[in-house]
Amino acid sequence: MIEKYLNKIIQGDCLESLREIPDNSVDVTFADPPFNLKKKYNSTKDSLDLQEYLDWCELWINEMVRVTKPTGSIFLHNIPKWLTYYTAILNKSAHFRHWISWDAPTSPMGKSLQPSHYGILFYAKEAKQNKFYEVRYPHKRCRKCGYLHKDYGGKKGMLHPFGPLLSDVWTDIHRVKHNKYRDDHPCQLPIHLLERIILMSSDEGDIVLDPFSGTGTTALAAKRLGRNYIGLELDNEYVRISENKLKMENPDSKIGDIWVSFYLDGITTIRDSDWEKLSSSYVIPEPIAHIDHTPIKSKNGKSHNGYTPKKTALSELPMFLEEVLVEQE
Ligand SMILES: C[S@@+](CC[C@H](N)C(=O)[O-])C[C@H]1O[C@@H](n2cnc3c(N)ncnc32)[C@H](O)[C@@H]1O
Repeated sequence: MIEKYLNKIIQGDCLESLREIPDNSVDVTFADPPFNLKKKYNSTKDSLDLQEYLDWCELWINEMVRVTKPTGSIFLHNIPKWLTYYTAILNKSAHFRHWISWDAPTSPMGKSLQPSHYGILFYAKEAKQNKFYEVRYPHKRCRKCGYLHKDYGGKKGMLHPFGPLLSDVWTDIHRVKHNKYRDDHPCQLPIHLLERIILMSSDEGDIVLDPFSGTGTTALAAKRLGRNYIGLELDNEYVRISENKLKMENPDSKIGDIWVSFYLDGITTIRDSDWEKLSSSYVIPEPIAHIDHTPIKSKNGKSHNGYTPKKTALSELPMFLEEVLVEQE
C-alpha cells in the first residue's frame, strides 16, 4: 500500500524503489535527474555513454508514468537536449500538455548560442481526466520607478490586480547559485519553482513523488503546501540534509485557509480560483488602471504584493534576494 511510503525520503536506487510503488497511486511525479554533464554528486558518476544514459532514462520515466494516477501529472526537468529524447519516450504512454521554458541563463559555452533556459515537460497520464489549476504570478515592476514593466496601453483598466495568468515561459524564478547559501549539492532547485508546479497540479492531501530528490526541494515544497511527499535519493548525505530540513518545515504556506507560494516579501504564485477569497486581504487601487504605479498592498501593510513570509529554516532566501538585486541592475 502507498501509505507506508508517504512523507519519507527513501534512500536507495530510484528504479528499485519505484518498482515497489503500486500502479496509479501518486498524484504528481516530478523528476530532476542527473543531466549526464559530469556534475560532482557524492554517489553517482554523471557521465554515461549517450545510449546508456537514454536507456536508463527510459526505465525510470516508464516507472514514473506507471505510478501516476489517471488524474495525475508527470513533470520532467532537464536541459533541452535530453528533453527531446524524453518526449519520444513519454509520447508513447502519456499526453503532452506543455514544454515549460524556465529562463535561467548559464555561462557561454563557445561556438553555440548561450544556453539560457531549462525545460520542464508537463505530461498528463490521461488527457481528459488531468487535474490542472490556472495560476497567477505578480506583475513585474521596475525596481527603481515602481511602474509596471509592460506597457498595457489603454487596457490597464482591465488588468488583474494580482498579476497575469502564467504562460509556458517562466522568467520570474531565479536559480540557486551562491555556494554560501545553498546545501552542499551541485544543483539544488528553488523551492518556489516546485511550489508553483504543485499548486498547478494537485490538491491538499495529494501525493507528490520525486525519484531524484537531492536535498529534498520537492518534498519541502509539498510539505509546506499540505501535500504528502515521497522522495527517492541514492545518496545518504543528501537524505540526511533533506530530513533535517523537513523536520523544521510545517504545512503553513497559507493566507487564511488558501495555499500560496511565498518568496521574499511577497507571493510568487496563487491559484486563479483563489483570488476571489484572497482579494479581501488586499487594498486594491481604485480605479484599477492605477495599478500601473500603485501595487496592491496586503491589509497588514507589510509589502508590495503580499505578506511577509514566515520565518524559514531554508537558506536560499537571502541568496535569492542577492540574485534578484544583481539581475535587476
Ligand atoms: C539534479 S539532482 C536533483 C536535485 C534536486 N532537484 C534538488 O533540488 O535538490 C539529481 C539527484 O539524483 C540523485 N541520483 C542519481 N542517481 C540516482 C538513482 N539511481 N536513484 C536515486 N537518486 C539518484 C543524485 O544523488 C542527485 O542528488
